[in-house]
Amino acid sequence: MIVPASDQWIARGAEALRRGELVAFPTETVYGLGADATNGLAVAAIFELKGRPSFNPLIVHVSDTGRAERYGVLTDTAKRLAEIFWPGALTLVVAKQNDSGIADLTTAGLNTIALRVPNHPVAQALLERTSLPLAAPSANRSGHVSPTLAQHVQDDLGDGPAMILDGGPTVQGIESTVVDITGERPALLRPGAVPREAIEDVLGMALVSATREGKPASPGQLESHYAPRAKLRLNAKQVEAGEGLLAFGPDAPAGASQVINLSPNGDLRQAAANLFRALRELDASGVEAIAAMPIPHDGLGEAINDRLRKAAANPEES
Ligand code: TXA
Ligand code: MG
Repeated sequence: MIVPASDQWIARGAEALRRGELVAFPTETVYGLGADATNGLAVAAIFELKGRPSFNPLIVHVSDTGRAERYGVLTDTAKRLAEIFWPGALTLVVAKQNDSGIADLTTAGLNTIALRVPNHPVAQALLERTSLPLAAPSANRSGHVSPTLAQHVQDDLGDGPAMILDGGPTVQGIESTVVDITGERPALLRPGAVPREAIEDVLGMALVSATREGKPASPGQLESHYAPRAKLRLNAKQVEAGEGLLAFGPDAPAGASQVINLSPNGDLRQAAANLFRALRELDASGVEAIAAMPIPHDGLGEAINDRLRKAAANPEES
């Protein structure tokens, strides 16, 4: 439902977000599909609604640099860029604060977080009203182009979001530029609305280039996804000696030294919300190997299986 971005509707949008619902809102780049970034189930609903076949880490939107520091560690380089480009169309990937409270699914299990302070009055008002960090990818179905009008969001996502706040056409029309400053050299992960040269001018150095998938051109700097230390065995129907069990549904086999059930009643949204924490905890328990039960491939199952496959693969290949 498209609604005007009035104070009243923004207040209702903020309430919906606090309840774990999704709200589409305008930014200066494109419309975002927002959810409370601290609520794993809400973030799972984003992936479900977008129909994404994989979990990629999402950008966390905050109202100002002070808020950003609650969730990410801003180095001197980060602060310099933030001072010049925030609020605005630059997203900074930085180390995640230990006690950030950000859901693991938001950052796809990584120890880093992508932060952005949007330069749009509606986005700002919503962030201030909620006091929440908002995970927000572009508000389109996976594989479609990013929406620059409320009507585009409606066409793509229908009544999936609790509401679509209409702030008119977005000014920039392309997504934010994503720069990773966790490596030795700052890296351009995604070209976007802020030109590379403008960032390089502020830094006084060239940005390392990365491919579109977020992998650096010079390898060994950035982890592209979370991978457990323990060996992961997929589609396991039984548990072998020494294995921990990543279970799903009510019929978990017995015999594992450690068991984490992604969703005892077989709910894929809950499983998605628990996935990365479960992998981390099983890994930390010291088991040699993790047996992962089969996950149905429909809905969010496709993205869960994609992540499990990548986590099971040799890190060099994935
Ligand atoms: O303009 C924009 O940035 C829009 C509006 C709504 O703000 N948002 C947007 O969000 O495009 P999203 O979540 O679709 O963008 C995610 C991008 C991807 O390229 C992703 O790989 C990268 O940010 N990213 C997010 N977290 C990351 C992390 N921890 N490490 C590396 N890349 C990350
Ligand atoms: Mg997009």
